Amino acid sequence: MSVIRSVVAGAGAYLPARTVTNQELATQLDTSDEWIRERTGIHERRIAADGEYTSDMAIAAAQEALRSANLNANAIDLIVLATATPDETFPATATTVQARLGMTRGAAFDVQAVCSGFVYALAVADNFIKVGQAKNCLVIGAETFSRILDWSDRTTSVLFGDGAGALVLSAGRGEGTQADRGVLTTHLFSDGRHHDLLYVDGGPSKTRTTGVLRMEGKEVFRQAVTKMSEAIDASLSACGLTAQDIDWFVPHQANQRILDATARKVGVHPSRVVSTVAHHANTSAASVPLALVTAIKDGRIKPGHLVLIEAMGGGFTWGSALIRW
Ligand code: ACO
Repeated sequence: MSVIRSVVAGAGAYLPARTVTNQELATQLDTSDEWIRERTGIHERRIAADGEYTSDMAIAAAQEALRSANLNANAIDLIVLATATPDETFPATATTVQARLGMTRGAAFDVQAVCSGFVYALAVADNFIKVGQAKNCLVIGAETFSRILDWSDRTTSVLFGDGAGALVLSAGRGEGTQADRGVLTTHLFSDGRHHDLLYVDGGPSKTRTTGVLRMEGKEVFRQAVTKMSEAIDASLSACGLTAQDIDWFVPHQANQRILDATARKVGVHPSRVVSTVAHHANTSAASVPLALVTAIKDGRIKPGHLVLIEAMGGGFTWGSALIRW
């Protein structure tokens, strides 16, 4: 049976120039390099420059993805940009990216699912392609979380960083089996009852302010491992695959301890886990595409490999996808 598949045609990433080490944070906060490394695996993070916006990083990542796909912007039918830190309340940052890429056709919108945003955006683009409404899609995750942190709160501010990553998905043909190239399955979940565990205490409607991130870290940690494992099981069983079939596990980069615990729970060997949390910290919707691009550029992810992605974020939202590269 011939089916439409969303094949990864290109990938790109962008990180701001400025590196902020744990030692630098320890000069402003009651924390230490040792505590942050031990509890999170984070050594450093990138922070956007004054005047450098989510759209700037998204555009840089998108341009690299388009170059690697050998496409120009007007070949794109749809931009889906995942972010919880848009340039402005409206219009969607995706439309700023569209204009600055020189794209004069198609559609562009943002998806808001916080740290799960990239998995959500990928699922949306995949479905547009599968129903025949788009041939080429840009899926972007881009964040300036540094702008919504309480820099005096050591329990949250040490965990996050800024950055962007993008994939080009293009319609291709498959046989409908798990040997096909492209997105094989996506699974999305949310449960709004968990609002108070992870949220931003402001917004245009409630406070007319942006607000800052608030989190019950211990409870988020506990729920993250359980929920991400459930999402992974959903993807694997939908394709009749097991953890042993996965070439690369590219999880949301929240905390090395969460990555390790999730990989252990689902049975993926540590050598198959792509981790960038030491150098990027948690870049929310950008974390998965940044990690994917790292593993493509260093030669780990190759065409034909089976790649598992997952994420969880505020809401809670969570999800997973299996992609044959
Ligand atoms: N430096 C030094 N001490 C700190 C710091 C810090 N930066 N932050 C907290 N502490 C202290 C606490 O105050 C506490 O002190 P106390 O015992 O005197 O009260 C002690 O360290 C232990 O704090 P815990 O919160 O119990 O530490 P824990 O081991 O749970 O680690 C952390 C905290 C890193 C936040 C962890 O719970 C975590 O990673 N949670 C997941 C959060 C997350 O990833 N959120 C992102 C969005 S959701 C997602 O991406 C999955």
